[in-house]
Amino acid sequence: MGKDVIVACDFSSAEAVYAFLDKFTERKPFVKIGMELFYAEGPQIVKEIKKRGHKIFLDLKLHDIPNTVKKAMSVLSNLDVDICNLHAGGTVRMMEAAIEGLTREDGTRPLLIAVTQLTSTDQESMENDLLIKEPIDKVVMHYAANAKKAGLDGVVCSPLEAGKVHETCGKDFLTVTPGVRFADGDIGDQKRVMTPAEAKKIGSDYIVVGRPITAAEDVVAAYNRCVAEFVD
Ligand code: C5P
Repeated sequence: MGKDVIVACDFSSAEAVYAFLDKFTERKPFVKIGMELFYAEGPQIVKEIKKRGHKIFLDLKLHDIPNTVKKAMSVLSNLDVDICNLHAGGTVRMMEAAIEGLTREDGTRPLLIAVTQLTSTDQESMENDLLIKEPIDKVVMHYAANAKKAGLDGVVCSPLEAGKVHETCGKDFLTVTPGVRFADGDIGDQKRVMTPAEAKKIGSDYIVVGRPITAAEDVVAAYNRCVAEFVD
């Protein structure tokens, strides 16, 4: 899969997400389904959006004992999603078990990427709450390297970290980056942002864009602008 724009469909119901997706009559966006929508609507929402012709990144961030993650991943693999994810903090063994669970009988599987440290975790909370005393950048790169070691395909990271992740883990290791805003747009609650064009320049493989598209007056035009800046 090449560079693409993934639209974060952070809606709370199937009706809302279908009303949004109905507007796209030409290029069908790659869609991210998160916990809110998945827990509200269940696996059916994944099947329906897939049937409509969209690729899907199912953002459920699994983190449990290896055996449980393996079995859960096998269920997600049967849903035919294109990308799914987990927390690298679950250890290399958990990530290896996830790959096993995802791999279908014919050897194919969805891409699997890892969350390193959430962007909501800062140095202070990592030190005080998690008792991890190393600098956060080092922790993020170590978790990315662990994900690579376990056979994963990439990580979710800030566009500002994408270059360093590629340096550490190789250029084929995918960087999927949220925190994207148009140069003339609202930053909202995101702290460190980049435009789609900057994210492309720094080497992000996929950008995850939510409100700049979903809250735009013309959502299709906003999506097309992202594609024009990032993909074309
Ligand atoms: O609306 P916005 O473009 O900020 O949406 C970004 C999406 O990416 C949301 O679904 C958010 O949960 C997700 N995300 C993020 N930052 C991370 C990880 C995920 O914004 N570090």
